[in-house]
Amino acid sequence: MTQSLMAEIRAHAPAYVKNARLIDWVSRMAALTGAKAIHWCDGSDDEYDRLCQQLVDAGTFKRLNPVKRPNSFLACSDPSDVARVEDRTFICSQDKQDAGPTNNWMDPAEMRVLLQTGENALFKGAMKGRTLYVIPFSMGPLGSPISHIGVELSDSPYVVVNMKRMTRMGRAVVDHLGTDGDFVPCMHTVGAPLEEGQRDVAWPCNAAVKYIVHYPETQEIWSYGSGYGGNALLGKKCLALRIASTMGRDQGWLAEHMLILGVTTPAGRKYHVAAAFPSACGKTNFAMLIPPASLGDWQVTTIGDDIAWIKPGPDGRLYAINPEAGYFGVAPGTNFETNPNCMRSLERDVIFTNVALTDDGDVWWEGMGPAPQHAIDWQGKDWTPALAKESGAKAAHPNARFTVSATNNPALDPAWDDAAGVPIDAFIFGGRRSTTVPLVTEARNWMEGIYMGATLGSETTAAAFGQQGVVRRDPFAMLPFCGYNMGDYFQHWLDMEHRLQEHASSLPKIFCVNWFRKGPDGKFIWPGYGDNARVLKWMIERLEGTAEGEGHFFGISPRYEDLDWNGLDFSREQFACIIDADATSWKAELKLHDALFDLLAPRLPSVLKATRQAIEATLMG
Ligand code: GTP
Ligand code: SPV
Ligand code: MN
Repeated sequence: MTQSLMAEIRAHAPAYVKNARLIDWVSRMAALTGAKAIHWCDGSDDEYDRLCQQLVDAGTFKRLNPVKRPNSFLACSDPSDVARVEDRTFICSQDKQDAGPTNNWMDPAEMRVLLQTGENALFKGAMKGRTLYVIPFSMGPLGSPISHIGVELSDSPYVVVNMKRMTRMGRAVVDHLGTDGDFVPCMHTVGAPLEEGQRDVAWPCNAAVKYIVHYPETQEIWSYGSGYGGNALLGKKCLALRIASTMGRDQGWLAEHMLILGVTTPAGRKYHVAAAFPSACGKTNFAMLIPPASLGDWQVTTIGDDIAWIKPGPDGRLYAINPEAGYFGVAPGTNFETNPNCMRSLERDVIFTNVALTDDGDVWWEGMGPAPQHAIDWQGKDWTPALAKESGAKAAHPNARFTVSATNNPALDPAWDDAAGVPIDAFIFGGRRSTTVPLVTEARNWMEGIYMGATLGSETTAAAFGQQGVVRRDPFAMLPFCGYNMGDYFQHWLDMEHRLQEHASSLPKIFCVNWFRKGPDGKFIWPGYGDNARVLKWMIERLEGTAEGEGHFFGISPRYEDLDWNGLDFSREQFACIIDADATSWKAELKLHDALFDLLAPRLPSVLKATRQAIEATLMG
């Protein structure tokens, strides 16, 4: 690029931008991608409104009925771009072993040729005919030592408005960067350059080519070809989990795929719980749950619904913050009975993606309530209940989502953006398992808990592209999100115990749950949702030392009489079906643990194998 073009691009930066590295990077990326203009996002409401209107004019957004859903929009994506693409996600560490066997890997030098420097490099000219948006954002409260700043460059205004809801985004971040503040560069293009005079489509993306790339050593993210969710909102899974997990490994903290909730007992004691469930396995719902009144005055408040950054504090306890500022949640299955707090969060200022549009300009999805007589489905086609019955056609895509600010949530915890974080009293690991895994089991010690996390299994969901309902190992619900070798990651969790050892009494308790056991009729046996508070109550009582349970080969589970059944008609027989851990299925389950351990063998902590042998010995016992 000529000096004069460089100077011209520099001149496009507002006067408040003082960070030389940022200006230089934006200049180089604008040149690489051939963007036709640069827009520095200030993060204002006014900018948000203008971009939403621009998206309406472009046909990407439909404005919803302002009486029913004020200031809310519906976007429908290209059918090829509806979820995270795990097989197109890469961890490009120098050494392949550092990415480990559970991540896709390519040599970073080779990847750079492919994306940036090669003759036909994908990013070359990728933004032709489009505006490059500079999106400065903070994961975590701006200015706190626990937070990390990223700057996403994207040619998608849809990404900009989502980042506004999901992060602390805008000029304040640039001000904070000052002249030499550090940031994680996050490069994003939908990979759909526009030729002179070419008309744009409503959802530009690259149906054929997608790359979601992370360079952990240089802390960079490069995403090509998708405009959807975690593929494109790079602060979320890419920065706050994959890159942050490697920061945590190096600096002694944890970046986890966990919700964080506060729970206050009728006696007024407050506890904090962090829970890892795989994608579309209940984090948002658990984080917002309303305990049944029949249990007494239990209160649950939300700190976060998807990601937790957890650090040891000076007192030897673990403190967690939610690095996000909004929710990108699953719409289908959400209704006023299963999750009233969520429904109230969706009353205004929402971006919906891939739900159905009703004739009165509102939204609908499967599991929201009575179906409308007619709607336009997420692919723009007519939808009726009769048609659905006939062909199984879904009005909303199963991975349809809403984007809202955390401040929309009526159950938001007052400490949700406290930079000091909240002290964690318990961890929960849970998967979606129609068989085998009991409703709840408490680990007897840290090791047993780490084993539960490490061997977590879950049936795959629509949150990721690919086959659904297949049981796979999803250690700590981090399989798609761990930025380094999974064996090293297990060791990192094991090391936490020693880090906190001086204060061993305050180590969080660890539990394993499964809300998803099914009966012979194929239906969920456990009512779930708000009734999960019964399990939460047992956990808190275990922390307080007031509830009983029964030990078995895997840990401690409640007996029927140990749970509070007030207000729920759930029989001893039904309970037996979801709490049992029968030897035959567990022998088969241990084989699945073995397969994971074999895969990770070169870097698997030996203590996990020893724990597995101990479990088998008790099981055979
Ligand atoms: P991601 O945003 O993908 O990380 O998902 P998540 O873990 O936050 O899952 P979410 O709470 O959005 O729930 C996903 C799906 O599972 C929704 O369709 C929910 O209705 C359903 N679900 C959540 N909790 C329960 C439960 O306790 N029982 C049953 N049967 N379904 C549940
Ligand atoms: C998940 O898949 O776990 C999500 C949605 O939270 S996405 O942001 O697309 O990763
Ligand atoms: Mn998630």
